[in-house]
Amino acid sequence: MKAIKFEKPWDVSCVEVEKPVPKEGEALIKIITAGICGSDIGAFRGTNGLVSYPRIIGHELAGIVEEIPENNKNGIKNGDRVVVDPYVYCGHCYPCRIGRTNCCTSLHVLGVHIDGGMAEYFTHPADLLVKVPEGMTWEEAAMAEPLTISLHGIHRGGLTVGEYCAVIGAGPIGLVAGLAAQAYGGHAIVIDLVQERLDFAKSVGIEYVINSGTENTEERIREITGGDMAQLVMECSGANAAIRSTLDYVSHAGRITLTGWPKKETSIPTDVITRKEIDIRGARTSAREFEEALDLIRTKKVDMNKILTKVIPIEEAPETIIDIEKNPGKYMKVVVQIAKD
Ligand SMILES: NC(=O)c1ccc[n+]([C@@H]2O[C@H](COP(=O)([O-])OP(=O)(O)OC[C@H]3O[C@@H](n4cnc5c(N)ncnc54)[C@H](O)[C@@H]3O)[C@@H](O)[C@H]2O)c1
Ligand SMILES: [Zn+2]
Ligand SMILES: [Zn+2]
Repeated sequence: MKAIKFEKPWDVSCVEVEKPVPKEGEALIKIITAGICGSDIGAFRGTNGLVSYPRIIGHELAGIVEEIPENNKNGIKNGDRVVVDPYVYCGHCYPCRIGRTNCCTSLHVLGVHIDGGMAEYFTHPADLLVKVPEGMTWEEAAMAEPLTISLHGIHRGGLTVGEYCAVIGAGPIGLVAGLAAQAYGGHAIVIDLVQERLDFAKSVGIEYVINSGTENTEERIREITGGDMAQLVMECSGANAAIRSTLDYVSHAGRITLTGWPKKETSIPTDVITRKEIDIRGARTSAREFEEALDLIRTKKVDMNKILTKVIPIEEAPETIIDIEKNPGKYMKVVVQIAKD
């Protein structure tokens, strides 16, 4: 079968590999669609220290179940349309025992620590599959995973109706976080340095956008929020300067969530954390948030089609990955159509 493989950094191709055979507790899935993620581009560049090579990528996956053990947790049967929850946890460590499986001390993420599913077939723990609602397109189903990342940040930040939610970074994760914040009754303020990304955010319905390269962001947030500043700040860029600025954008008694993955350490004035009494929380991957993401997509409360740049066949995935690496501004989300259903 065909699969998209990184032999090493800067070396991507569509290769022939053996069709996998499910082990005990696993399902066999015929993959229909797979999203290309920013983290795949990081893996292509070799800048994600967690990725080992060679590696088949793909963690934003939707497909049809061809074999599955009976009595699996979500009652999935052969022929069901599913999305893959790609964070494989141990179930025994402390975070797993308290239900925070995304913080598993030996978390295995598809396409990072273990092979992913940008391939014609994939095997995966049967209990980590979620049924796709009727009527949802295959492209929408593949885009549920990035929505879970944004939702997890919102949940970790405890957003409530009427609050201002400043999101730094208008890439797929930040933009979708802004859309989800609005779906939950918040006022999104999306911040970026790239005007095209902000124009795009505005065009898909984000209430406020700020170019932090050309505007005084702190003053604009003060104006927008009537002096309060943002009750929740979501860091979705991974830039050190942006992480530092979350402390300036957040309200007194506010919350900050850190979703972006910085490459280096950030120095921050902790006296501001004390003075404003800020809650700062990490937000890593997601846990039990797929059903909610699928429901938001199904009801069009968050329309993921707005961020879909294009759909390509699997043979075009290598050249597209190379082009996204060169011209990231041209793309939001690309979905690879691996098969027709
Ligand atoms: N925690 C997790 O589980 C998780 C999951 C997926 C992605 N991520 C991380 O989330 C971040 C966003 O992912 P993405 O795919 O949307 O990335 P992306 O690169 O497409 O978007 C990042 C955006 O941030 C903007 N930006 C960069 N520096 C900035 C600055 N100083 N101020 C304001 N904006 C700035 C860029 O212009 C870009 O539009 C990345 O760091 C990624 O690694 C984390
Ligand atoms: Zn991803
Ligand atoms: Zn664990």
